Amino acid sequence: MSTHSSAVRPVTVTDLVAMKHREQRFVMLTAYDALTAEMLDEAGVPVILVGDSLGMVVLGHDSTIPVTIDDVLHHTRAVRRGTRRALVVADMPFMSYQASASEGLRAAGRLLQEGGAHAVKVEGGAAVVDLVARATTAGIPVMGHLGLTPQSVNQFGGFRVQGRDDDAAARIVADARALAEAGAFAVVLECIPAEVARRVTQEVPIPTIGIGAGPSTDAQVLVIDDVLGRTAGRLPRFVKAYADTRSTVHDAVKAFQAEVEGGDYPGPEHTYE
Ligand code: KIV
Repeated sequence: MSTHSSAVRPVTVTDLVAMKHREQRFVMLTAYDALTAEMLDEAGVPVILVGDSLGMVVLGHDSTIPVTIDDVLHHTRAVRRGTRRALVVADMPFMSYQASASEGLRAAGRLLQEGGAHAVKVEGGAAVVDLVARATTAGIPVMGHLGLTPQSVNQFGGFRVQGRDDDAAARIVADARALAEAGAFAVVLECIPAEVARRVTQEVPIPTIGIGAGPSTDAQVLVIDDVLGRTAGRLPRFVKAYADTRSTVHDAVKAFQAEVEGGDYPGPEHTYE
């Protein structure tokens, strides 16, 4: 891993708000380990999310529900070790904040104090406004998350687009306003109609970060393993793979196997005399 120079100016939450006002789009990507975080940081990604998607992507669960605060802490520490410039946002996992704002505040504090995160992300609208206000007052920057909030997948009856009817759309706009007023510095909009995301983006002073929310948001987020083409099976419509590393891995592993089986690896150049 490269040595970290102190000359780099880290991205801050106020930089992101300023980018919205300059109409400068940006990306957020997930990372769960130090090496990936290092590569994203080197590529100039301004925001890295240690998403609770780690439950599905890294741990093999079929939802984010089983993810614990210790899981997120573990991966956040790793990501911070690989990052020198990007703002690292740690996801608040299921049941780390739903029982009370006080519990949520303590969990958020742990993610900064023990995990090294710069900010936390929390799912929900009106229900988390108190937590957002208390956390920001305590110096913990909070990113909101509206629309298809995966921790509520059982309530939604599956991973479905949200905000399709007028009432649901109005609720998302009102929730986004309430989060911004409570002090959130940005809000993720997941799987909602593009028009609803456009309205939210126009009406709130903080950056909107879309995933399956169309082209009008201030920023876009994807799961890094989707971007790299590592994931397989039925993927959501919004996923775009920019590489096919799953095939690259298959090819490399098969080539290694063939060379070992054929006696070609290790060669003299890999062997100590
Ligand atoms: O957990 C996650 O990766 C997320 C993003 C997809 C927004 O919440």
